[in-house]
Amino acid sequence: MRISSKNKDINFDNYHVIEGDLDPTQRAWIEVNGIAIEKNVRQLRSRLKKNCQLMAVVKADGYGHDARVVSEYAIKGGASQLGVATLNEGIKLRSFGINAPILVLGNLYTKKDLLICFKKNLMPTISSISECLICNDIGKNHSSKFALHLKVDTGMSRLGLEPDKFIKSFNKIKAFENICIKGIYSHLASADESNAFDPKSNTQLQRKKFQELLKQINFDKNNQIKIHFANSAGMLLGEDFHFDMVRVGLSIYGYNPLAQVEDNLFLKPALYLKAKVAFIRTIETGVGVSYGSKFVSIRKTKLAVLSIGYADGILRNLSGKINVIHNKKLYPQIGSITMDQMMVDITDSNDIKIGSTMLLLGSDGDKTISPIDWANKSKTIPWEILCSFKNRLPRVQVN
Ligand SMILES: Cc1ncc(COP(=O)(O)O)c(C=O)c1O
Repeated sequence: MRISSKNKDINFDNYHVIEGDLDPTQRAWIEVNGIAIEKNVRQLRSRLKKNCQLMAVVKADGYGHDARVVSEYAIKGGASQLGVATLNEGIKLRSFGINAPILVLGNLYTKKDLLICFKKNLMPTISSISECLICNDIGKNHSSKFALHLKVDTGMSRLGLEPDKFIKSFNKIKAFENICIKGIYSHLASADESNAFDPKSNTQLQRKKFQELLKQINFDKNNQIKIHFANSAGMLLGEDFHFDMVRVGLSIYGYNPLAQVEDNLFLKPALYLKAKVAFIRTIETGVGVSYGSKFVSIRKTKLAVLSIGYADGILRNLSGKINVIHNKKLYPQIGSITMDQMMVDITDSNDIKIGSTMLLLGSDGDKTISPIDWANKSKTIPWEILCSFKNRLPRVQVN
């Protein structure tokens, strides 16, 4: 279904189920700009070392944006592969007809899961010889080779073959006849920290360790094995981190995790979070607002009640710390954010009415509110902010 609104075409086809013919913009919603994703991918690719490819990381429903839309536009922008966290996320993308190579970044260790992975043409991440043996058996039973990526741990201490045993493990794995190693990778633990350029930082030590391990293994460089290492921040650290492919999440969505590299990086946020004003009231001086009366008015105050709350994924600890935008002006959110609603001080406005749309994340004129601002205010990271949005918020594609 395509619905024309004032100045844009909105495509509601892909979005989380909405009952009957209810307008997805009736209460609160997320607008996803696919073209922004496409342009971000294109721009990021232009910064990569020659012949280096980009894997778009679309796990957690495309960082809350809608994995289907993100995948389609990331591929348009030139992403060669997609990265998901779970088997189910990969299966869903295949059901949408996406046939790009997909790597499952999480661990699969049972025969049943690895068989499904094989049948859906998804590549698992291998962190142990025993997982690799299962893949080899599956390949053999299907008179085929199971395509997979090997992971080595270089300092994250999460998934991956142990670095001390990596050379030995690799030589064993190489002899398996029914697998096809499509990639060898590792993951950075601290690339977005301020010391990441320092040669003694964990990030640079991880890179050296990875390079040393690669030097010691014997693999055919023409055999389509992609070496990959960098996430968004790692990619921005420079070509030493690029290898054959980078795995980029946060930056394809329009955010720069590496404050030190700001020059001419024109990423465009793809997500706009909006909510409607459901009610307006005026309170006198000295009146408490919301649970616990954490805010008490110091003047006669006009309040807008917005239809969005922590059950939509707005962290409650942002209460009283954020602003919302209407018509290029900022208005402070006041009192505790409740499950389904929050209050905003609109005393200084004369153009906000019941039914007006307020912008919580995104840009309007020279006003911008980013998940990075929210993350700083709630002492978390932008990744968590983006992944917190619930399915109750319809995702609406706006290009
Ligand atoms: C293994 C792996 N690679 C790449 C990424 C992408 O990271 P970023 O969003 O920082 O680009 C992630 C995300 O957490 C990941 O787990």
